[in-house]
Amino acid sequence: MYAITITEPGGPDVLRWTEVPAPTPAAGEVLLDVAATAMNRADVQQRQGNYPPPPGASDVLGLECSGVIAELGDGVTDWHVGDEVCALLAGGGYAQRVAVPATQLLPVPSGVSLIDAAALPEVACTVWSNVVMTARLRGDEVLLVHGGGGGIGTHAIQVAKALGATVAVTAGSAAKLERCRELGADITINYREQDFVEELRKATDGHGADVVLDNMGAKYLERNVDVLAKDGHLVVIGLQGGRKAELDLAQMLAKRASVSATGLRGRPVTGPASKAEVVQAVGAHVWPMVADGRVRPVVHTTMPASEAARAHELLDSADVFGKIVLTLR
Ligand SMILES: NC(=O)c1ccc[n+]([C@@H]2O[C@H](COP(=O)([O-])OP(=O)(O)OC[C@H]3O[C@@H](n4cnc5c(N)ncnc54)[C@H](OP(=O)(O)O)[C@@H]3O)[C@@H](O)[C@H]2O)c1
Repeated sequence: MYAITITEPGGPDVLRWTEVPAPTPAAGEVLLDVAATAMNRADVQQRQGNYPPPPGASDVLGLECSGVIAELGDGVTDWHVGDEVCALLAGGGYAQRVAVPATQLLPVPSGVSLIDAAALPEVACTVWSNVVMTARLRGDEVLLVHGGGGGIGTHAIQVAKALGATVAVTAGSAAKLERCRELGADITINYREQDFVEELRKATDGHGADVVLDNMGAKYLERNVDVLAKDGHLVVIGLQGGRKAELDLAQMLAKRASVSATGLRGRPVTGPASKAEVVQAVGAHVWPMVADGRVRPVVHTTMPASEAARAHELLDSADVFGKIVLTLR
């Protein structure tokens, strides 16, 4: 089979379309003929050598895919050869075949193409596990999503609106903020020109955010705690603004606030807090929102995986709204 491999850590030009041995499914896994994969910011970090795959995972890039089941490993009884699925992966999506635990499969939702379904597993699992399973967002609350125009942001807006919440977003351009509004965002803040604490307080009569979904880490920690409402919950999922900062515990205490930070890729396959648990919850709660059209995959563009280097350049360009999908067929 062919896969995108990395010759050495570096820029997009280290990505090569190469012939490699195909994986075989272990017990409890299935082998997929991959139709498409979707890009994540983590792929860029892995390409640069800053985000090694967890032990036992494929060293091929790709944290999600869609495809058709080609083979069942021992003990897999819930799925059949020929089923069209999408999957959360620990790696290996930029390849024509991938082996994945059956507990990380979801059916292609009705109304979504096999190719576009590749854009759903990583964002759906990240948003649901953080915003709902961890921070327990309710329909009468305010969610602040940083990076509303990103893959995570575009999905988070739709899910939170489907839950009935008020959604505020930050983004770096008026054009992206306008598109966030089209997806349902109620309050839009240009992080290059406005202070999100001031703007969100103004828009919510001083209330602030009950939940903040943060991609920036250290750079925004102080202001994220500032903007939290009483009993608010900050969930950090990205460290685009650095990893270390001081936390004002007096402010946390006065607000009865919580801070969580979670990573999806390193979760165990099964058991407590596992990928299986998250995938199961996404199937039960998010898939019905997709099936009835309240949540759609937001795909900026689709290109062949053999052009992964060009796709990585595009992701770095800040022009992207939503996800970039790479086809493997
Ligand atoms: N913990 C986990 O399990 C997990 C899982 C998936 C993703 N993530 C992380 O979540 C983050 C978003 O992922 P993604 O796939 O959505 O990436 P993405 O599509 O590349 O989006 C990145 C976003 O960051 C925004 N951004 C850049 N500088 C900003 C700033 N100063 N303030 C607010 N937003 C800013 C960008 O907004 P503009 O384009 O408008 O500038 C863009 O929307 C990444 O850090 C990723 O590593 C974590």
